[in-house]
Amino acid sequence: MATRIAMGNNKGGVGKTTVTVRTAEALAALGKRVLVVDMDPQGNSSRRLGVVGDLGKRTISEAIKANTLGAAANSIWPCGWDAEYATRIAVCPSTLALEDRMSEAGVIGAHRRLSIALDGADDGFDYTLFDCPPSLFHLTQLALAAAQYAVGVTEPEYYSIEGALRFRAFVEAQGTNLSNPELSMLGVIAAGYDVRKPAHLGQLEALPETFGDLLWQPTIPVRTAIQDADESQGPLLAQRTDGGREARALFGQLAERLIKATS
Ligand SMILES: Nc1ncnc2c1ncn2[C@@H]1O[C@H](COP(=O)(O)OP(=O)(O)O)[C@@H](O)[C@H]1O
Ligand SMILES: [Mg+2]
Repeated sequence: MATRIAMGNNKGGVGKTTVTVRTAEALAALGKRVLVVDMDPQGNSSRRLGVVGDLGKRTISEAIKANTLGAAANSIWPCGWDAEYATRIAVCPSTLALEDRMSEAGVIGAHRRLSIALDGADDGFDYTLFDCPPSLFHLTQLALAAAQYAVGVTEPEYYSIEGALRFRAFVEAQGTNLSNPELSMLGVIAAGYDVRKPAHLGQLEALPETFGDLLWQPTIPVRTAIQDADESQGPLLAQRTDGGREARALFGQLAERLIKATS
C-alpha cells in the first residue's frame, strides 16, 4: 500500500491544490511514484495535472460510490504533462459530480468508502496524496479515513491559519470516529507568502510558535512561475525563469522533508 497523506485546510484559496500538485511533481522528480486523488469537486488538481476532457465514469466519485475493494483502479488516469517524471504521476480525478457523494454522508460506514476503493488500487505507488476541499465534512472525512497522515497547508494570514488550526484539531480528535485511530498530523506547510505584505511577514514569524515542530521548512513564497504553471496546467519544469527554478528547488526540499518524515 502507498503511504497516504491528506492535504487540507478548512479554508479555500490557501494553496492546498498548488502544494499538493507541486509536491507530487517534486516527489516524482525524486523517483517516487505518486497518485493524486482529487477530493475537491472543483477538480482543480485534476486539471492542473493535465487530466482534461470527458472523464466518462472514470472519476473518484464512481470509485467511492462503488463501495468495492480496489474500485479506484478504474479511475486512475496518467498525468497529462510532457515531462519524463510525469510518467510516475497518476491522478484519480474529480468533477462536480463528486458533490453527489455528499448525499451518502449519513449512511453507516460511508466514510470508509474511499479507503475501500483505494485498497489494492494504490499498491503500485509510493505515495497517495489527497487534495481535500475547503471543508471538514464528508469529502475531507473520506480522505482522512483513508490516510495514515494529514498535512496542513496555510497562507501566512489570520483566517488561513485559523482554518489550518481547525484542520489540525479535527485530525487530532476524530481519527477513532473515522475508523482510523492511527491517523496523525505529519506537518504543516506554509505557502504563498508575499514579502510586500507586512501582515504576511508578521504571521510568518509567529508560525513556529503556533505549530511548533509540525511546521516544515522551507516555506513557499508567491511566485509568478507557480501561478503560471497552475494556469497552463503544466509542470513547474516548463517555467524556465529564475522564479520557476527557485520554486522547483523549494518544493524539492519539501518533498525530501516528506520522504524523511514517512520513512
Ligand atoms: N506560491 C504561490 N505563488 C503564486 N500563486 C500561487 C501560489 N500558491 C497558490 N497560488 C495561486 O493561488 C490560487 C489559489 O491556490 P490553490 O492552490 O488553488 O488554493 P486552494 O486549493 O487552497 O483553494 C491559485 O490560482 C494558485 O495558482
Ligand atoms: Mg484546491
